[in-house]
Amino acid sequence: MSLLIKNGKVYQNGILVKKNIFIENEKIRKITSLDLKADKVINAKGKIVLPGLIDCHVHMREPGMTHKEDFFTGSMAAAAGGVTTFLDMPNNLPPTVTVQALEEKRKLAKKSIVNYGFHFGSTINNIQEIKNAKNIASVKIYMDYTTGDLKIDDFDVLKRIFSSAKIASVHAENENVLNAINLIKEAKNGIYICHISSKEELHYARKSKIKNVYVETTPHHLFLTAEALNEMGAFAEMKPHLKTKKDKEALWEGIYNNKIDTIATDHAPHLKEEKMEINYPYGVPGLETMLPLLLNAINDKKLTLKKLVGLCCENPARIFKIKNKGFIKEGFDADLAIIDMELEKEVENDRLMTKCRWSPFDGWRLKGWPIASIVNGNAVFEHGKAHNIRAREVSYNV
Ligand code: NCD
Ligand code: ZN
Repeated sequence: MSLLIKNGKVYQNGILVKKNIFIENEKIRKITSLDLKADKVINAKGKIVLPGLIDCHVHMREPGMTHKEDFFTGSMAAAAGGVTTFLDMPNNLPPTVTVQALEEKRKLAKKSIVNYGFHFGSTINNIQEIKNAKNIASVKIYMDYTTGDLKIDDFDVLKRIFSSAKIASVHAENENVLNAINLIKEAKNGIYICHISSKEELHYARKSKIKNVYVETTPHHLFLTAEALNEMGAFAEMKPHLKTKKDKEALWEGIYNNKIDTIATDHAPHLKEEKMEINYPYGVPGLETMLPLLLNAINDKKLTLKKLVGLCCENPARIFKIKNKGFIKEGFDADLAIIDMELEKEVENDRLMTKCRWSPFDGWRLKGWPIASIVNGNAVFEHGKAHNIRAREVSYNV
């Protein structure tokens, strides 16, 4: 199977070039001015072709909570949002803290229509499992309470986990960000600090001069503040909580100053009914809205395309050493997002593909949308529809 994406403006080395992309056997074969013959042609005239987004922080809920999401529905949401690869979190039922649980999850993930990788969970006594786990993106460490039961308080245990993982992804809030960095200092390994949400957390994350500290923030912390709670209540409740306008501005500042490395969704779907209970769960979905929100910010001159590609494609690939992804390059995997910067429409709960079918951004009118997603050379999302073509697990450069 070959595919030619023609007449588009292709994002390459920081600029847009008018080129055709010839794809064969799942790879980008040629980026060319020639009009090569292919089995299928997509005319991208007037559109921009980006590397497919890599979302480093996603909760697909499988196994154990498939009433909220599963790898098929969640991956359709990803495809609709220009996300061609996601890294799945371990707070499932059972949690992904043993090799056996990881292998089980690998089987379940086969129904995903976008590519995927896995973060492995940590407990007070699973160091051996961590060491035996193969082909994982990182070891996830929970230092604060959230969905699931994986919080670890003991600093000695944490230190041991940090030194057993080449890269640890950490859920740490407030001063725990500082604690996490102090713990990793001795281990000299990498640390990826998930969902930085405030000025204070960003300050803590960037205070130390040690290398290998990576910082993630989320679309909801960039576009919403705690004021959203007045209107949305539990539907605007996630961990870490939404903060003030000043915090939000500090995060944007962090993006301009390169203090933030990635934007990831923390896609954490829960059903509407669950959100309406007294003891509602924390988390909001985000796979379908991240790219349109960011493209809209580009149209508003708040962001550049170069930043977006750095934050959502290149840096995720670099930080987690994901093989052959994140860039439009000959020989790389044919994972692409085709976007229309002029398309303007509303986010609508009823049209979402996530199983939970709601978004904290419902009703937002956004300009700039993904219109097609190519995964391993297949158009898995096109003309508003997702197609059931199985994708595969990523591998990592070691
Ligand atoms: C996440 C979930 O629901 O799994 N919830 C959240 O509020 N972000 C867990 C997490 O990432 O902390
Ligand atoms: Zn999360």
